[in-house]
Amino acid sequence: MYTSRITGLGYYVPENVVTNDDLKQWMDTSDEWIQERTGIKERRWIDTKISDDTTSSMGAKAAEIAIERAGLTKDDIDFIVFATLSPDMYFPGGGVRVQDYLDMPTIGALDVRNQCSGFVYAMSVADQFVKSGMYKNVLVIGSENHSGGLERSTRGRHVTVIFGDGAGAAVVSRSDDENRGILSSHLHSEGKHAGELSLLGPSTGRWVDAIMEENDPDDVSYYPHMNGQFVFKHAVVRFSEAIIEGLQANGLEKEDIDMLIPHQANLRIAQFIQRKFRLSDDQVYNNIMNYGNTTAASIPIALTEVWEKGKIKEGDIVILAAFGSGFTWGSVVMRW
Ligand code: UT7
Repeated sequence: MYTSRITGLGYYVPENVVTNDDLKQWMDTSDEWIQERTGIKERRWIDTKISDDTTSSMGAKAAEIAIERAGLTKDDIDFIVFATLSPDMYFPGGGVRVQDYLDMPTIGALDVRNQCSGFVYAMSVADQFVKSGMYKNVLVIGSENHSGGLERSTRGRHVTVIFGDGAGAAVVSRSDDENRGILSSHLHSEGKHAGELSLLGPSTGRWVDAIMEENDPDDVSYYPHMNGQFVFKHAVVRFSEAIIEGLQANGLEKEDIDMLIPHQANLRIAQFIQRKFRLSDDQVYNNIMNYGNTTAASIPIALTEVWEKGKIKEGDIVILAAFGSGFTWGSVVMRW
């Protein structure tokens, strides 16, 4: 039986910074409202006038860094798992685009469609492939281009101010060290709440023709919809459950957590979890202030920053936890 562990991490964010005050050019909002409700100060939004970044190109840039830090080359990667809710195209997904961008051999590429939980799901897939012995090095990417699809108006402000663009990547590799690596992952869904955080069209339920024909100025079905308070209430419960499940599965107590990296949905959610588990500021990492909610990219960006800052050391218990659209949620427990 093999073990699997992260051997390389990287992230990439577009250079264009959009502050809360910058958003006022499109909508009636304020820095005070956004910071008080979400903790966000600024986010990165691709500026199409100066950049040709896409979801997959950002993913590829993050991946290049992660592969190099793993001491590998693109030719050592056996498989790609790509998590996003904002692929460059309706189909195919982003994984094959990364295979092309990085000029990789014709390895398999799998897209994961689990939104904010996408990276946790993707890590779980990579972990299984490596532990089974099927692959040695799996590239896991979370990447999002939200800015291209957000409603930049007062009508859309309760969603638009939250989301940011960016990408993060990890290389999950086979290891013979039984004492380190991914210990377990725990995945859940509850599809009856799919409509509470969703994007209806274009899709097979909402083709472009239908949207164009109706030409209804009140039609918001092609913008993301979020029932914020409903999502918030479920998030605080499911985040906690996913963390407890991960701890229990490994015979750990909350005191054993060295670093918790929650999906960066809202600083208030992360602070609630921190209080509930009585964790210190050093035990929870947040960077939503600088990037907003980057959905599938938020955990790998945060994990890369944590690692770059030297905040995790060998042997530490590191927990990734996520909740989001679907609803889906889950956790990954690692001994670093
Ligand atoms: O990552 C995936 C999972 N997502 C989440 O976990 C998100 C969970 N939800 C949340 O984080 C919060 O619900 C939000 C931050 C999205 C919204 O906060 P809220 O406290 O639930 O605000 P609300 O939508 O209930 O709106 C409160 C008020 C409304 O005004 P009235 O009706 O009370 O007069 C909104 O129109 O705030 C208004 N509002 C804004 N005002 C200024 C909504 N968005 C804005 C805005 N700027 N951007």
